[in-house]
Parts: sequence; structure tokens; C-alpha cells
Amino acid sequence: MRIYKAKNYEDMSRKAANIISAQVIMKPDCVLGLATGSTPLGAYRNLVEWYEKGDLDFSEVVTVNLDEYKGLTRENPQSYYYFMNENLFSKVNIDKDRTFLPDGTEPDSNTACLKYNKILKGVGAPDLQLLGLGHNGHIGFNEPAEHFSTETHCITLSEQTIKANARFFENEEEVPRQAYTMGIKTIMSARMILLVVSGEAKADIVKTAFYGPITPQVPASILQLHPNVVLVADEAALSKW
Ligand code: GLP
Repeated sequence: MRIYKAKNYEDMSRKAANIISAQVIMKPDCVLGLATGSTPLGAYRNLVEWYEKGDLDFSEVVTVNLDEYKGLTRENPQSYYYFMNENLFSKVNIDKDRTFLPDGTEPDSNTACLKYNKILKGVGAPDLQLLGLGHNGHIGFNEPAEHFSTETHCITLSEQTIKANARFFENEEEVPRQAYTMGIKTIMSARMILLVVSGEAKADIVKTAFYGPITPQVPASILQLHPNVVLVADEAALSKW
């Protein structure tokens, strides 16, 4: 594992964006696994800026996102599709037909998951998978569980996650209770994992994930077994390291 200690959020974002752009430059038709949440926002801003400068070309890139809330349409500002479109897809020259997320509007979980698994198998393992870290150690929406998940599945969000994500909604009641998420096995199949972590509130969980036991109760702990993990975290997030 490589660790890049960033001074602050901006520095973390720039370092992460540099790694993503290196991937796009070295392999223009790469598969990027993308993440939502507040942590990757700064990295996306940098990518957009560098694209505008003419330094990056996304025309051949394929993207697969980690997750989507069940029940939210693409037009819903809280959906992850909307987030990706707002923060990256609509601002660079990516071909929208090459961008994939689970279909939140598919009411049948089995159908939604099978459909997304088929897409993931079709595009192949991500060359780079960007990940944020939930306060309880979740990655994507893989919540603490009895065992590690394999492929795309429907998850019932934990109380802690609902509370943490309520800040993006009008109130806690509006947070969907379920989501479709890429499974741990698929995440682990990525050639490179880029985990971004920021802020003191994540200091305990990032330490637990990498120094604690590998357990499905801390889903991110499985990353200890991945041969090519890059952790980009700011000083606050690494303050207990
Ligand atoms: C959500 C997403 C995760 C993300 C997490 C952390 O639950 N499903 O993929 O990593 O939030 O979000 P933040 O970066 O805002 O702390």
C-alpha cells in the first residue's frame, strides 16, 4: 500500500486527481470506477479544470459507479447519477453511453442487480477504482455485515449511514432506506484502488480499517488484502495513524 499524506482537503484532492489523470493519460480507454460523497468532489473539480485546460481527454473512458439509491430517478438531485452528471460527466467530453450506474428506478432488486452485474462483466475489471470511506467503514454502500459481499446487491442502509447522508437531503426521512451497490468482490477485482479520506471525523475509522482485523464488520478492512491500494488522506484523517 502507498500512502500519500496531504496537507489539507485541497491538497488531497489534487493528489487524487493527479493519480486519476495519470491513469487516463496512460490508458485513454481505461475503465474508471467512480465514487460519490463529499470527499471526491475536489478531485472531480480538478479533473474538470484540467480537461478545460486541454490536458485531459475523456472521450474513450468508460466509467462504472459504485452505487445508487433505490427509488431515485436520474433527475432527482439526490441521486448519484445526478451527482456524477453535475460534478463530472456534463463538464468533460465523456461519452454518456459509456457511463454506468445501477438503475435506481428499477423496483425489482434482483433485476437491478443482475442488470448491473452484466454491465460490470461486459466492461471488465476497473483499471482504477476510486473509493471514499463511510464513518462505519463502508465502501460503496457495503455496510458492516456478517460476511463480505460478492457482486451487486441491494442493501438496507444502517442508521449511522442514513444519519451521515441526511445532510444532503431536506431531512432524515427523505433518505432512501435502500441502495444498490457494487459488491466487495467486484471492488477488489480493480487493478488499482484509490481511497480518499479527509477530516478528523474519519481518523479512527481509517486507522481501524488498515490496522485492525480484516472483518466484514469493517468492510474497508478487506483492502488490506489488495495488492495495489493507494491511500490519499489529509493530515487530519491520518492524525491517529
Ligand atoms: C456514501 C457513499 C460512499 C461514500 C460515503 C462517504 O455513503 N455511498 O461511497 O464513500 O458516502 O461519504 P463522504 O465522502 O461524504 O464522507
